[in-house]
Amino acid sequence: MISALMRTLLAGARNSVARRGWIGTLKLAPHKTLSLLGEWTFDWRYGLDTTTLVGIEELDVRSAKTRHAHGYEAAQVFIFREMMAALPVPLQDFVFIDFGSGKGRTLLLATHYPFKKIIGVEWSAQLNEVASRNLQRYRTRRRKCRQVETVCADASTYPLPADHPLICFFYNPFKESLLAQTMANIGSSLSAAPRDLFVLYLNPENAQVTDRCAFLKRMLTTQYYIIYRNQGGVVAG
Ligand SMILES: C[S@@+](CC[C@H](N)C(=O)[O-])C[C@H]1O[C@@H](n2cnc3c(N)ncnc32)[C@H](O)[C@@H]1O
Repeated sequence: MISALMRTLLAGARNSVARRGWIGTLKLAPHKTLSLLGEWTFDWRYGLDTTTLVGIEELDVRSAKTRHAHGYEAAQVFIFREMMAALPVPLQDFVFIDFGSGKGRTLLLATHYPFKKIIGVEWSAQLNEVASRNLQRYRTRRRKCRQVETVCADASTYPLPADHPLICFFYNPFKESLLAQTMANIGSSLSAAPRDLFVLYLNPENAQVTDRCAFLKRMLTTQYYIIYRNQGGVVAG
């Protein structure tokens, strides 16, 4: 367990240096370390495995698209809660979809909200199995949604459910080209069945892609994430 923690800390530091440089990484280090310890405690308390990283090269996915994708890293609990609190609508009508759901940390946290349904789409069968196991093990009184489905599929071509408003969650599963393909997919689905939709983009490395979508409007921008909304019934452009 200690060596897995060290591996996750080191891999996280390496990713952070690549993204923010040494100074940015050192500034964030105390906060990140505390948050990681909190997340390990969460796993330990419920007997889960959501925290250890899995690199893209370690995944059991044989696809040329892996060049355009990222490996597994779990969303931070406090940021996810903050994003949920920012949503200005009653959640019970919405289907929540996590594009690239990995080991299911976000799916677990989403069960605390009264969504109509939660769907996790993950192309790695191994990660998807871990997510299903985590969901079975996670017992909490805070649970408000019991309908959770894990789908092993390519999220960039996943056919969206047409009958409900959607919350589409992205924690950086793809690089630019796959994200563009996914947004085009979402746009076509909205054109065919206009409905309310939010895109929650955590660690928005390729926000130029989502900003270009005529059917989305930025609703909230913070240092960690962007929330976009398609006003109900607006046709995709
Ligand atoms: C940064 S992790 C996010 C995990 C999870 N959403 C969370 O919030 O904890 C990105 C995930 O996207 C998955 N992924 C990347 N490309 C994908 C694709 N085309 N289809 C499905 N999953 C994909 C990776 O395997 C990885 O598990």
